[in-house]
Amino acid sequence: MKITRIYITGFMGSGKSTLGPIVANTIGWNSYDIDSEIEKRTGMKVTEIFKSKGEKFFRELESSILDEHSKELEVVVSLGGGTIAYNNNFDIIKKTGVLVYLKSSPEKIFLRLKHKTDRPLFQTFDNLILSDEEALQKIKRLLSEREKYYRNADIIIDIDGISVGRTVDRLVRELKKKFQIVN
Ligand code: S3P
Repeated sequence: MKITRIYITGFMGSGKSTLGPIVANTIGWNSYDIDSEIEKRTGMKVTEIFKSKGEKFFRELESSILDEHSKELEVVVSLGGGTIAYNNNFDIIKKTGVLVYLKSSPEKIFLRLKHKTDRPLFQTFDNLILSDEEALQKIKRLLSEREKYYRNADIIIDIDGISVGRTVDRLVRELKKKFQIVN
């Protein structure tokens, strides 16, 4: 099957924004990162948007940017960790391209996010309101809510303990094995 759009999903901190441009470069396509575009267009950080405009505003903008890119050709789109779970995003993604899931365990995700301050859903890491145990529980809960979307990806790549370079190699090999990438 000939494909012309690749969407990269995975929980926060799974490397979507790092991997997207590398994959795009490898196959000669353009890349977009939905969170970065939201920040560029609003002139605000994601955390600020959640705080001052609310999550609903963020989710609407996220969906409209996804919708725009779903009409372009030869694009790799790095989604936000929650994009697939809102509005009709999942249907748009499945209808218009190939979905790749970067899979990681809750424990590894926790370690990667623990010291980050730019994820509004985990703001409380910063304020020390959530204990480590509570934060891990929140990751597990969100992961299980989103699992029904993630597991329907066309390609699932386990990223734990694997370098970015090897992950890209694996992913591009899988893509070429399963699909026809025109470039
Ligand atoms: C979110 C993930 C974030 C960002 C926002 C909400 C989520 O993107 O879109 O903070 O709901 O999981 P990353 O997955 O790139 O961190």
